[in-house]
Amino acid sequence: MPVRSKLIGFGGYLPDKIVTNADLSTRVDTSDEWIRTRTGIAQRHIAGPDDSAASMGEAAARAALEYAGVDAETVDAIIVATATPDQPFPAVATRIQGALGLKQGFAFDISAACSGFIYALAVADSLIQTKQARRVLVIGSEVYSRILDWSDRTTCVLFGDGAGAVLLDIAEPESESVILSTHLHSDGAHADILYVEREGKDGPSLRMNGREVFRHAVTKLAEVVDEALHAHGMTGKDVQWLVPHQANLRIIDGVAKKLALPQERVIVTVDRHANTSAASIPLALNEAVRDGRVKKGEIVLLEALGGGLTWGAALLRL
Ligand code: UT7
Repeated sequence: MPVRSKLIGFGGYLPDKIVTNADLSTRVDTSDEWIRTRTGIAQRHIAGPDDSAASMGEAAARAALEYAGVDAETVDAIIVATATPDQPFPAVATRIQGALGLKQGFAFDISAACSGFIYALAVADSLIQTKQARRVLVIGSEVYSRILDWSDRTTCVLFGDGAGAVLLDIAEPESESVILSTHLHSDGAHADILYVEREGKDGPSLRMNGREVFRHAVTKLAEVVDEALHAHGMTGKDVQWLVPHQANLRIIDGVAKKLALPQERVIVTVDRHANTSAASIPLALNEAVRDGRVKKGEIVLLEALGGGLTWGAALLRL
């Protein structure tokens, strides 16, 4: 009997400090009007001195465990998607394993930038399908504020910090809830349009050719969304919710339009969170499940594109 996986827990963490567009306009030559009209972003959360990828990821993981009503001791594996680990090693995931007091199982990080959550979800789903794990925490945790060049108006206004988590479990054969499929892609030929310069003037600095990334996002996300639906003989009409990576409202609207999904069926957090990279999808999913919009049994489509370039989609029945 083939084993499948399903989502049973959702959690999120956002640092207390909120930085508005108006706040940023006192630091760089920008305006609330430019940021809102080009991106949909109004504000972002920024990590405090006590926040780290590990501490934020742990908080999101604890919330997901609490939602599912299961003990941390029952978790077999922890996968953290992050482009901003606190240290080169150990992995953020093993820090979280230690903080949760777990002695069993295994933990590791995945680096796929803004697509990291989709990649981590695909790996977790495979671990469960191949019976290497039964219960897996998948966490996206990012502290982009520590890799931004705060004098570069073309990038510093776009990102925020935070963490989101989901808990995966075995889906019994009769289970309505199931991860239907995941679809991963990358193309290293475009590695230099979005990357982190190791020795920027104030340390590591994110660099992006925004226009080029935008161009790739529009076409590649449309393709991967088609691929995911086609794999199940579905069309946009079968999708109840789109929970996209939150980089730019114009990109999100483009995918929704392609699926012919009305705005109220699209989960948007980019206005309040900005782009939290690998954390953006689990943060959005957590919000929408907890406020009762996304319900058990509904078809949910996730998609993301980021540095690498990497991109992917996941289709699930919640
Ligand atoms: O999550 C990872 C994936 N990342 C993305 O998906 C991001 C994809 N790219 C984008 O979202 C958009 O390309 C941006 C939001 C980054 C930029 O929007 P755009 O419409 O592509 O603007 P642009 O780069 O073409 O810049 C237009 C103008 C430029 O001035 P000139 O050359 O026309 O005089 C920029 O210098 O806007 C200027 N500009 C700004 N002005 C005020 C760039 N950043 C700012 C700013 N405030 N913060």
